[in-house]
Amino acid sequence: MNEVSELRRSAAISQLQSDGWLVHVDWLHEIDSTNSLLKRMLVDQASSSLPRLVVADRQTSGRGRGKNAWWSPDGCLMFSIAWRPDRSAQSELSEFQSRMSQLPLVVGVSIASALQSILVNRDTIKVKWPNDVYVDRRKLAGVLIESIVGAADPVWIIGAGINVLVDMDSAPETIRSRATSLHRECTSAASISLSMESILIAIVQRLCETLALWQANSDFLSRLWQDYCLLTGRWVEIQTSDKRIQGTCCGIDDRGALIIQDPRGVHHTILSGVVESWT
Ligand code: BTN
Repeated sequence: MNEVSELRRSAAISQLQSDGWLVHVDWLHEIDSTNSLLKRMLVDQASSSLPRLVVADRQTSGRGRGKNAWWSPDGCLMFSIAWRPDRSAQSELSEFQSRMSQLPLVVGVSIASALQSILVNRDTIKVKWPNDVYVDRRKLAGVLIESIVGAADPVWIIGAGINVLVDMDSAPETIRSRATSLHRECTSAASISLSMESILIAIVQRLCETLALWQANSDFLSRLWQDYCLLTGRWVEIQTSDKRIQGTCCGIDDRGALIIQDPRGVHHTILSGVVESWT
């Protein structure tokens, strides 16, 4: 890394620390996976001060949702934040636990809204329930949320990979036809100042704001995830833990569940599942 890049990186780390939300910030050259690293750290130090951010230039075993790997090339912004929600902000433990299923959506809309202003066409950025960020039909960012089992207060690891400056021509064919990068989608004015550091700062600031709104139970967030829903009006096929549902998506309800109307007109409310295909 040259001197200018090093200076830009340390300025970004200082800004993230002085913004006042994050307690620790580490920017590593290479790691297996930023999510895995934070999980290992927190199993040993369950009571450590959070939120803690780890960013990596390279991941040797980047992980996606389910059993998927995450292609982690140069130019992909890859980070994880370990975060402990404030349980006292919720009236009941059960209410708190049920609201945790909204976290993927909260993170997805945070990323989409942080990036929207630099796109050529602002309306093309959407969230594919629960948390993939798309521009038109191409994936721009993926989110992997995990929890640390056994900690006295639940700790969540929010991992995100954003194709900022990725050269899509070098991607494996299956990814090339389905993914995009910010560099490809942003305005020429924005591309001049596009950097991993500026994008990281914009996303972390937005995450801090939206997580605070979410903790305060703000109605604003459910309007946000309705607005950003990529699947509304589309035909989708979803696999849940016990069934496969096909139908037209009617949007996302206030609880963060996807609503599907099947061909018989029956509405299904899906709190967790995998969207296998969509048109
Ligand atoms: C997905 O789309 O399936 C989720 C991809 C999440 C990738 C990020 S990159 C940083 C963090 N560390 C990982 O190993 N995965 C997440």
